[in-house]
Amino acid sequence: MDVDIENTRLGVPGPVNVHPRVLRALAKPVYYHRTPEFRKIYGEVLEMYNEIIGGKNALTTAFMGTGTAAMEAAVAYMVDENTTVISLVNGKFSHRLMEIAKRHSKNVIVKEYERGKAVKPEDVEELISDNPGAVVTLTHNETSTAVLNPLPEIIKVVHKYDGYVIADGITSVGGDYVFFDKREIDVLISGSQKCLGMPPGLSFVSLSERARERVNEIYRERGKPYYVDLVKHIKKAQQNDTPYTASVSLIYAAHEALKMILEEGLEARVMRHRKVGETFRRAFPKLGLKLFAEKGYYSNTVTAALPPEGISAEDIRKRVLEKGIIIAGGQERLKGKIIRVSHMNLTNVREVIMILGALDLSLKELGHKHDPGKRMESVYEVRL
Ligand SMILES: Cc1ncc(COP(=O)(O)O)c(C=O)c1O
Repeated sequence: MDVDIENTRLGVPGPVNVHPRVLRALAKPVYYHRTPEFRKIYGEVLEMYNEIIGGKNALTTAFMGTGTAAMEAAVAYMVDENTTVISLVNGKFSHRLMEIAKRHSKNVIVKEYERGKAVKPEDVEELISDNPGAVVTLTHNETSTAVLNPLPEIIKVVHKYDGYVIADGITSVGGDYVFFDKREIDVLISGSQKCLGMPPGLSFVSLSERARERVNEIYRERGKPYYVDLVKHIKKAQQNDTPYTASVSLIYAAHEALKMILEEGLEARVMRHRKVGETFRRAFPKLGLKLFAEKGYYSNTVTAALPPEGISAEDIRKRVLEKGIIIAGGQERLKGKIIRVSHMNLTNVREVIMILGALDLSLKELGHKHDPGKRMESVYEVRL
């Protein structure tokens, strides 16, 4: 089957459909980044970003690389060889944070969870009470399993034992609340191509003052990665500047995308993401799709489901793609076992009707016998 890649709707959890306003910003002529004009734009990007994360006090920098660059910078500058790291692993991306941590510390304690399950604060307490001051890594929203981890409770436990939290907010920032200052997040990571509604290629790291002190201490002790030098980036960002050449076009896109988020209003945006998520979660079981994430820990930006008995997840994806929409499958040990539908950035009634309709028809073509009344109900029972 030939796929028209310029006219396929994205239903994957990143990259997401990008608004034409943001695409037009990408087409602006490139300008020299070492100028007051560009610094003004970059400064506004950082300011708008901090507003979105609720981080008036956050020390934020962008990285000219995807989310993993930010993950690497955050871990490398918070952790040295002798740091005890507690890596909470319940999916592919928290696993990646753990792998990065293992490159920087000899002492990484791994707490693995069955995929689909959320991290439990009581487990964290058990581990950190024996290792006060440890650095804890986790994903806020684990994209690979559609689980939203209880970040506020985890932060409380970690701080009780003087530890630090590195939270990957790559699929929560811009789609769900993170409340950087209020929740006292130490280190927050995010990426451009998810709920922030930009193309891939940019990422962000924000530090609390307490985390910055630690980063500076570690930096003094020994050399750290050069390109993703967090200390240099933060220092430059405070002057609205970048250590190396800025991805000028992506910064223009970021400026427009962040402006759009603030125009919509963070609260309205988060509510929209929540409602769309709820709609998918109500509809999926009626189509025979079993929600994958643990009840009570559902992500508001992505939904994962097991296919009905006897139908393959990959066949569902193929049939949906034939209808012009690309949805995601499982990753790592979940490859071929689940489907994942994103509801990030622009998703609204149109996407819900389109994706549910395409899933409905695809399942019917694959021989799934669900009650047709229920099927139609699930497609049109959109309460947004
Ligand atoms: C939660 C999470 N962390 C990290 C990443 C990796 O980001 P990137 O692929 O932009 O490097 C992703 C990408 O899907 C993600 O969803």
